Amino acid sequence: THNEQPVLRMLMFGKPGSGKGTLSNKLINKYDVSQLSAGDLLRSNIAEGTEVGRVAEGIIATGGLVPDDIMTKVITSKLDALKNKHWILDGFPRTVGQGQLLEAHLRTSGTPLTLIINLDVPEEVILGRISDRWVHLQSGRVYNSSYNKPKVAGFDDITGEPLVKRPDDNPEIFARRLKAFNASTLPLLQFFSSTEGRASTKLVTLTGATSDEIWPKLEQIITSEFRLRPRGAQKTSVQE
Ligand code: AP5
Repeated sequence: THNEQPVLRMLMFGKPGSGKGTLSNKLINKYDVSQLSAGDLLRSNIAEGTEVGRVAEGIIATGGLVPDDIMTKVITSKLDALKNKHWILDGFPRTVGQGQLLEAHLRTSGTPLTLIINLDVPEEVILGRISDRWVHLQSGRVYNSSYNKPKVAGFDDITGEPLVKRPDDNPEIFARRLKAFNASTLPLLQFFSSTEGRASTKLVTLTGATSDEIWPKLEQIITSEFRLRPRGAQKTSVQE
């Protein structure tokens, strides 16, 4: 085509509770972008009782990390279906091993990452949020009883189904998840900051304590550099 619009193939990177899910949801609601969330995929595998779900359940409950090979298989099989689309990957990769496997996979399909967003949110801010988080497990929609409240307390806005607390959102398990992040996931930032073989990948750190600070910066990048337009504003000749 004549349209040389760059394709958004983006990683949403950040600590547990930094707002990866919240910001990804905001993007997919407004723009024509698909999202894959590692955590949501694992939670639906658990709910469906698959083999992956049976392995993941105990690991997630204790704040550990699912093995790289299982995780990579779960994600790449879904990614292949999004080949020519704009997409956001949230929660994967989470180890340098996963990062290497992902990049090798994307290199083979000729679809390298184009953007890595590193959410930099202070830990004390995150700890305050988690106790207020409520989720709709079936869809992955995330709410917070002080920020981003559901329209009716305790129920999902779209389906009206009840919201729940995630079993791994208690202070003790959350502390372990933060530890796992610092030990296994943080080294990925170093890995990705090397530009070798990543000429088409842009790494941006967004710092802020609230989405009101982070969201406009994120939107600026995807509208100016990737020229995405809000769904409603897209003029097409195709009638529905
Ligand atoms: P996963 O579900 O990916 O959890 P996580 O990375 O710990 O991230 P969270 O979902 O907790 O947080 P988030 O950054 O999405 O924040 P959110 O937007 O909800 O993974 C769960 C588990 O699965 C892992 O522990 C691991 O065991 C396993 N796993 C997953 N991926 C794996 C992998 N690749 N390899 C191996 N194992 C893997 O926001 C948090 C709260 O803050 C919400 O209540 C939200 O409403 C609120 N909030 C967000 N933004 C704001 C704001 N600006 N102001 C106020 N409140 C806000």
